[in-house]
Amino acid sequence: MKRKEFLTTACGVCGFGFLAGVILTQESCTPKAGAAATKLSVEEGKVLVPLEIFGANNILTVKVKGREDIGLVKKEDGTVLAFDMTCPHQGATVKARDGKFFCPAHGSVFSAEGKLEKGPARTALKQYKASVVADKVEVLVS
Ligand code: FES
Repeated sequence: MKRKEFLTTACGVCGFGFLAGVILTQESCTPKAGAAATKLSVEEGKVLVPLEIFGANNILTVKVKGREDIGLVKKEDGTVLAFDMTCPHQGATVKARDGKFFCPAHGSVFSAEGKLEKGPARTALKQYKASVVADKVEVLVS
């Protein structure tokens, strides 16, 4: 089985789709496309994320060139929340896991709404303005 076939199969099993050129991350499934993968870019203060990136999931993180990862949560009403994945405790990168956000450095936990559930962090995740425009999520990062 070729690497690409493996990643597609493995990600399909755990419910993640793999879009060419985009790295999705979650603790249980991290397609590491290495140098071949391209991160999303900031253009005119916005990051445009294809809605299809969610697949069957409602919470994930995406890599962005030159910036911290962005956490995305698709709500039942179709709106999307976006968060800076920089942990407010000491700046580690927060990950999506089990429907929440988790900091692997010291164990802080944040809800899917970005609220602090467990320290040592003392504040919520920084939230970005995000809106769904056609088939993309537009995240304002500046
Ligand atoms: S840096 Fe995230 S809990 Fe310490």
